[in-house]
Amino acid sequence: MSQLKVFITGASSGIGQALAEHYASEGAIIGLVARRLSLLTSLQEKLPTKTIIYAVDVRDSDALEKAAQDFIAQFGPPDIVIANAGVSAGTLTENKDDIKTFKGVIDINLLGMVHTFQPFIHVMKQAKKGSLVGIASVAGIRGLPGASAYSASKAATIAYLESLRVELNPSGINVTTIAPGFIKTPMTDINQYPMPFLMAPDIAAKKFAQAIAKKKRFIVIPWQMGCLARILRFIPPWLWDFMMKNAPRKAHANWDWL
Ligand SMILES: NC(=O)c1ccc[n+]([C@@H]2O[C@H](COP(=O)([O-])OP(=O)(O)OC[C@H]3O[C@@H](n4cnc5c(N)ncnc54)[C@H](OP(=O)(O)O)[C@@H]3O)[C@@H](O)[C@H]2O)c1
Repeated sequence: MSQLKVFITGASSGIGQALAEHYASEGAIIGLVARRLSLLTSLQEKLPTKTIIYAVDVRDSDALEKAAQDFIAQFGPPDIVIANAGVSAGTLTENKDDIKTFKGVIDINLLGMVHTFQPFIHVMKQAKKGSLVGIASVAGIRGLPGASAYSASKAATIAYLESLRVELNPSGINVTTIAPGFIKTPMTDINQYPMPFLMAPDIAAKKFAQAIAKKKRFIVIPWQMGCLARILRFIPPWLWDFMMKNAPRKAHANWDWL
């Protein structure tokens, strides 16, 4: 069997880093994208397989296209592309300053995913194989108070990935939506509230890879959160409002670096 080729965005920490470590431990050729070059470089030094790094912002579609073309030129079409880069921030619509955060969150979490997949689809179609994987979130299943930008961005990725899955179905390209519950990463380390079924990133990465290998269409990980998510979908709006009245909220953030 030929060597697996995997391209991952958001690989400088958390889930993306764990996925890189997982696939490298399986001997895959890896392409890694994030903005923080120093973190990518130290990860590259640690990984036991051929690893190429690209210090690219996923909002920059031209830079991502160049990275994708470089990866394809060196190794051919990837078997797996994982659009994982993402940010989370508490937002309130009534704050004018938060508009910048709304734009940043949507740009990175939704359009960054489109920018990631776009340059690969043509070559994957020619190869008639490959998997495009989008990291969504359970936060996209229902609207979370105080996290409207994040919830909206993840709901949008869930719908986007479903459209893409049907579009690409005849061409032999699989699309997998992964909606994580709580995974222990720098993104969740700042949360001041209880996080049920919190999972270690290395375990999560293994489970994500299993779902990708099985060509799952949509999966929530961990499974306990998946059961909860199934129930959440059917809760009527009035009951959701009541349940969320005193729900803990993501810390508010106006991020200049967004
Ligand atoms: N942890 C959880 O419980 C959880 C739950 C549901 C969904 N998720 C999703 O899982 C994904 C990974 O999150 P995580 O928990 O691993 O968080 P994390 O540790 O904060 O990692 C986020 C990654 O995204 C990269 N990134 C952010 N903005 C970027 C940009 N503009 N361009 C390129 N890369 C960018 C970051 O790298 P740089 O800063 O170096 O660019 C970093 O590598 C996200 O999409 C997140 O929404 C996480």
